[in-house]
Parts: sequence; structure tokens; C-alpha cells
Amino acid sequence: KKLRHAFPIYKVVFPSGEPGWIISKYNHAVEVLKDSRFSKDMVKRYGPESRSVFTNNMLFSDPPDHRRLRGLVQKAFTPKMIAGMRSHIEDIANDLLDQVSGREQMNLIDDYAFPLPIIVISEILGVPLEDRDKFRTWSNTIIGSGNEDAATFQQHAKEFIDYLRDWFAQVRQNPGKDLISELLMAEEAGDQLTEEELYGVVTLLIIAGHETTVNLIGNGMLALMEHPEQKELLLQHPEYIHNAIEEMLRYNGPVEFSTSRWASEDIDFHGHSIAKGDLVIVALDSANRDEEQFGDADVFDITKEKSPHLAFGTGIHLCLGAPLARLEGEIAIQTLLRRYPHIALAAKPEELEWRPGMIVRGVKEIPVTLR
Ligand code: HEM
Repeated sequence: KKLRHAFPIYKVVFPSGEPGWIISKYNHAVEVLKDSRFSKDMVKRYGPESRSVFTNNMLFSDPPDHRRLRGLVQKAFTPKMIAGMRSHIEDIANDLLDQVSGREQMNLIDDYAFPLPIIVISEILGVPLEDRDKFRTWSNTIIGSGNEDAATFQQHAKEFIDYLRDWFAQVRQNPGKDLISELLMAEEAGDQLTEEELYGVVTLLIIAGHETTVNLIGNGMLALMEHPEQKELLLQHPEYIHNAIEEMLRYNGPVEFSTSRWASEDIDFHGHSIAKGDLVIVALDSANRDEEQFGDADVFDITKEKSPHLAFGTGIHLCLGAPLARLEGEIAIQTLLRRYPHIALAAKPEELEWRPGMIVRGVKEIPVTLR
């Protein structure tokens, strides 16, 4: 808030020595995210050696590559396909809560919010369930929130790629009805995905679809428990759940601070000279608290309608998984409240430890009492 008020377009030198900018106001954020002069293509900025399995995907490309890479996956994320997951996600939520039944307390993250999205995305992709703990380790390392050193990162990245290679080999022998089978079959039929692009897209889906959704459930429930009158309102009016999820995304969004772009040319941005190559970071969580856009932006109010928040970004890179994330959040929170209407924080909010790192915003552990 201080930065947004004092220096909404803030020139910085990042710890890497790279010059750049932090954009923290809502209207500026929208402009940057929709302006094609701000590129996401890492190869254009840093050269071919920057291409890795973690960047060889739609999120780090510009059109026309972006359109091709996104188009192939888009078909798995249609509203019809997502709606078809509803009862299945309800079963997963209920199974997880069955495992804590009889207990007075649980850790909302480890016992509930973490396993739910990884089970869902694993099933969409066709990842064997017994491998999901490995995915937690890899996804934590890769996304940076585990704060591991470079050697651990390299080791986990290698294990992950080796795993993907073996897994794809098995799927090619024995395809199913999952997304990976579809993509591999499309590839064999001469469609446009290279082997490297395939690793890239799977990596992106696992990473982008996991930690973020964990934190929608965690941050969302935290906001609700910190505002007991809002929790009561939701218990009395379950029909507010859609608005409530949007407000949770606005108020405590899972993607904090790192929707990065690079200026592909010199740009005059509201009187500031952004030089070609400068890194531009859009602070989504700040934009979502911009009082010029949202009025009482620091008030958590689940009755607000049609919130134009930026938790999923905007423009051509608007989150591909948003309908799935919304559905998972909605079911996870509704199921939890239905079974444990008296759920409450078992720690003071100031005692909770937020995860380090600039990309994802979430709490390490949320102890709750269930009765
Ligand atoms: C892109 C947020 C869940 C897949 C994005 C972006 C944001 C975001 C902000 C845009 C980044 C940018 O413009 O630089 C979130 C949040 C989630 C969530 C807050 C949960 C609450 C998911 C899920 C999936 C997913 C469940 C898939 C299973 C993707 C993909 C992109 C993306 C593939 C890249 C789209 C493109 O480049 O065209 N997400 N995401 N996300 N997200 Fe999500």
C-alpha cells in the first residue's frame, strides 16, 4: 500500500542486478497485462540458453507460439469438462475430511488444502496417485517457495524430468482417456507439440494448478475465520459461495507479486521511460487492494458482486485453469463448512508463518479446531 501510494510505477534494481519496475496500481496493472509490447518470451530476452522445461510453455511465450501452445491444452479445460468434475471433487473433499473425523484439530494446509488440488490435477493429467508426494516436493522446489539451494533445485528438476520421460513412455504404450494420453496421441498424429514442449506444458499445469489452489483454500478460509461475521453469513446463505470465492481471491490472492514481463521496446508509460529489456513486475495483490478501483479495498465482504479482481491476471495469459480453481475452491470450502460449521483458528493470526518467496502467497500451516 505504501508503495502504491508513493511510487505506483516504481523503478528498482532487482537483487540479480537487473533493472526493472514494480507496477502496483490496478489500472496500470491492467494496461501492462494487456499491452503486447510487454513480452513474456524469455528466449527473446535472455537467449536460447534460458529455455528449460520450466519456461518452455505458454506462460513464457508470445503469439504466435502462445496461441498454439495454449490452444492444444485449452480443450481439456472447457466449462463442460470442468463442470463434469464436480461430484468427483466433492468425493475427494469428503474423503480427506473422513480421514480427520474424530479429531479435535487439523492443519488446514497439510490435511486438506494441499492434497485436494494435487489429486484433481493428477487425475486430469493421469498421474499415478501414489506419486503425489513426490509432486509436492518437486513443485515446492521449482516454484521457489521451499527456498531450497541451487543444488537441491537441480537435483529435483532432474528427478522430475526423468520421471516425466518414463511416465510418457508408459502412456505411449498404454494410452488412457486423460489429458497426457490425448496430448501424446496428438503428438504422434503429427500435431504441433514437440517432446520438450510436452514436458513444458505438463510442468506448467502441475505447478500452476497446485500451489496456487492450495493457497486459495488456505488464504480464503483464513480470511473467513478472521471475519467470523462473514463466516456466519456464508453459513446462513450458502448461495453466496461464488461471490465469497471471488472476494477471497481479491482480498488474499494466491499470486502475490510476480507476473513478470519484459519491455520489448522503449516504452513511455505514464511519463516514465521504461527501457527495452527492463523487467516489469505486476503486483497483483496490491492492484486488488487499490482503493481507487475497489473503494473499501481492505474490507473483506463476501456479498460484493462481480468483482473485477486480477487474481487470475488478464489479457492473453489470463489463467487457463481459473474455472477449475474456482470450482475446487468452492467445493473445498463449502464441504468443510458443511461438515465443520464451528471451525476456528487455533492460533493467533499474527503467529501464522507466511511462506517465503515472491511468487505465491500462502501460510505454511493453519492449525484449526474443528468443533
Ligand atoms: C496463468 C493465477 C490456478 C493453469 C495464470 C496467471 C495467474 C494465475 C495470475 C497469469 C500469469 C501472467 O499473466 O503472467 C492462478 C490462481 C490460481 C490458479 C490464483 C488458483 C486460485 C490454476 C490451475 C491451473 C492453472 C488450477 C491448471 C490446472 C494456468 C496456466 C496459465 C496460468 C496454464 C498460463 C496461461 C497462459 O500463459 O496463457 N494463473 N492460477 N492455474 N494458469 Fe493459473
